[in-house]
Formats: sequence, structure tokens, C-alpha cells
Amino acid sequence: MHNFNFPSLDSKEKNYKVLIKQIEALIEGENNIVAIHANISAAIKDTFNFLWVGFYIVKTNKLVLGPFQGPVACFSINKNEGVCGASWKQKKTIIVPDVNKFPGHIACSNDSKSEIVLPIFKNKKVFGVLDIDSSRENTFDQIDKKYLKKIIKLIELKLI
Ligand code: SME
Repeated sequence: MHNFNFPSLDSKEKNYKVLIKQIEALIEGENNIVAIHANISAAIKDTFNFLWVGFYIVKTNKLVLGPFQGPVACFSINKNEGVCGASWKQKKTIIVPDVNKFPGHIACSNDSKSEIVLPIFKNKKVFGVLDIDSSRENTFDQIDKKYLKKIIKLIELKLI
């Protein structure tokens, strides 16, 4: 079993680099997609102590709650609803510095202040999204986007 409680490093970028190596080792040889999503959400939350880290998976015409770590969350989200639905519809990463300023934001927890949502692709269609909430405003930037996209690539390789 891998230990995610590594000493705090001096930059977010270094933390992501270590995290990605740990995730690569963790999921090597694993093909259970639910278990992979579960452990990746745990690894990200353990590393950065974000409020909520999890997945919503496309089922028919909705995003349905998948494996996650954090407070209870809404079971399903319609296309173009909230940040997750917007990421699904637009097929792109959305960074929200202040959730109160995002029209239609779905507040699963009042403690959520900023958010990043990235789409996951399978056969060029959106398979689901990775959603991360922070209890502080302005948490996510281009560094998060860059490294979380690398984590998503690791998931996409398991979906082929
Ligand atoms: N805030 C999200 C909903 C999901 S929860 O944050 C876990 C949204 O607006 O899509």
C-alpha cells in the first residue's frame, strides 16, 4: 500500500509531481474503473486536503455521482447545470475562483468557495468529470489544470 502522507513540499507543482508518480504506481495493473476512481479521489484529497474530490459519470443524459471523498453531494446533474454540467457541455476545463459568482453553481456544501472541473474522455465523448471543491476562494489555477489533466490521462488510458 502506498503512503500519501508525504512531507509537505515547497510548491504545489512538486506535490503534483509526487502525487502523479504515486497514482501511476497505485493503479498499475488495475482495471476496476470504480476502484481506480475511488483511490484517485482519495489520493488527491489526501495530498491537498481539498474539501471535496470526486467524479460524476455520464449515464444517459445526466451526470451521476461516482466515487468521491468529502461531504455528501448531489446524486445527479443535468447537462449545462452547474459547473460540472457546463464542463460536460463545453467539453473543457472550468476554473471557478469564486463559486458565488458562477451563475447556476450547484452548492452541495456551503463550505465550497472555489472549484475546478475537468472532463474525462472516452472515444472522443465525455465519459465523466473530475470535480474538486476548495473551502478557500481562488484555489485553482493553470498549475492545477496542467497536472490534473495528466491524472485524467492516466484514467483515460484505463477506459480504452
Ligand atoms: N458544485 C458542483 C456540483 C457538485 S458538488 O460541488 C460536489 C457544480 O456546480 O456543478
